[in-house]
Amino acid sequence: LQIFSGNANRSLAQEIASHLNINLGRAMVGTFKNGETRVKVEENVRGSDVFVVQPTCTPVNHNLMELLLLIDALRRASAARVTAVIPYYGYAKQEKKTTGREPISAKLVANLIRTAGADRVLTMDLHAPAIEGFFDIPVDHLQAGPILAEHVREMNLPRLVVVSPDAGGVGRANSFRERIGAGLAIIAKQRPQPDVAEMLDMVGDVEGKTAVIVDDMISTGGTLAEAARVLRERGALAVYACATHGIFAGDATEIIAQSALVETIVTNTIPLPEGCRKARIRAISIA
Ligand code: R5P
Repeated sequence: LQIFSGNANRSLAQEIASHLNINLGRAMVGTFKNGETRVKVEENVRGSDVFVVQPTCTPVNHNLMELLLLIDALRRASAARVTAVIPYYGYAKQEKKTTGREPISAKLVANLIRTAGADRVLTMDLHAPAIEGFFDIPVDHLQAGPILAEHVREMNLPRLVVVSPDAGGVGRANSFRERIGAGLAIIAKQRPQPDVAEMLDMVGDVEGKTAVIVDDMISTGGTLAEAARVLRERGALAVYACATHGIFAGDATEIIAQSALVETIVTNTIPLPEGCRKARIRAISIA
């Protein structure tokens, strides 16, 4: 078994390798002067069971290309099996057409990964679970919920209520709630335009309680900041947030720093950017 990594999240790949008591496979993953991605696998992989750890996080296109070229290089070097370990799967929000003349980007990315030569995909909390079916190879779709819920349980916060910040996340919030034995509240959200979150209404009682918002990803931070504001308005004593993928696009950390959130807990599917400590954001490991 050998593990290789691109540049998207080498520390996670390193941590996974340490758990398995092996060294990371040697590979040069760089860039030519003209901007093209350059890959060279620097050890023998003939007949090996090979794993490539590479979330397709920002810069998404660059990280995706590193993943594809690593898979291609390993396949051409006669690896017996290549598993693409994609802890965060980019382009997942574009899994269907919302209007005419749009691509289905998540499907195209699945095709590219298969065409590059992956035999299997291991991923975590796909934004749209249906993406699993976009692949005609086996997909292991893991969930961070159990790890995050265990972590929250150990924090011993009083009078917990788990909050879904939108209707689409109710299933996720409900299984989180079952794990920690808490109540459930649901916020109705709408997006008047891309990347803008507006809270419409809320179902459930949060007065005098510690609210934990559970989401799959944090991008602009708008959903969390708005949800935390609504929860405090409705009487929550303190608001925390948990999410699998901390994308933190643009000035998300600043938005979260200035929000009503006491603390935000994500996993390390994506490396944390600058400014997280100030924004009271920390990561727990899924290695
Ligand atoms: C929405 O469908 C997702 O579950 C997240 O709530 C959303 O992606 C968060 O995005 P943002 O941080 O930009 O509000």
